Amino acid sequence: MKIAVINGPNLGLLGRREPAVYGHDSLASIQTSLTAHARALGVDITFFQSDVEGELVTAIGQTLGAADGLIINPAAYTHTSVAIRDAIAATGLPCVEVHLSNIYSREPFRHTSLTAPVCVGVISGLGAHGYELALDALVRRQTRAAKPVARRRAAAGKRQS
Ligand code: DQA
Repeated sequence: MKIAVINGPNLGLLGRREPAVYGHDSLASIQTSLTAHARALGVDITFFQSDVEGELVTAIGQTLGAADGLIINPAAYTHTSVAIRDAIAATGLPCVEVHLSNIYSREPFRHTSLTAPVCVGVISGLGAHGYELALDALVRRQTRAAKPVARRRAAAGKRQS
């Protein structure tokens, strides 16, 4: 299973950026611990961050046919970007939206997510742990989706023997 992890503007400053809101972990340390978590689950992850909307759109588009799921923190673009929303929808992939902070306990302009409606779920306010929870959710979803097929194959195998 391959999961693409995509982070939007200003998240490259994590650790130094408003630590009372976003915590003390840098994006590099989040990547390191998420990679270890993914390895333990047998999942390959790719990691991408950009401050540029078009680069994020391109990176999301490139996951089509190359990944099984997406984890995205679109950061400020969550609240403004139709282009990122459309890119997520275009992939047809299950996507979990992650926010380090609880966007619903903050300013009203953060309460609207343009991207959430094209995601299978949103994790907001649990800090860096949110990325691991998102990965767990995508793995569980894929495992559950695969099970009925495995059961059908097992049943067909029994009928043939
Ligand atoms: C954020 C929340 C956004 O509102 C904000 O613009 C960010 C980070 C978060 O992870 O809590 O840059 O996505």
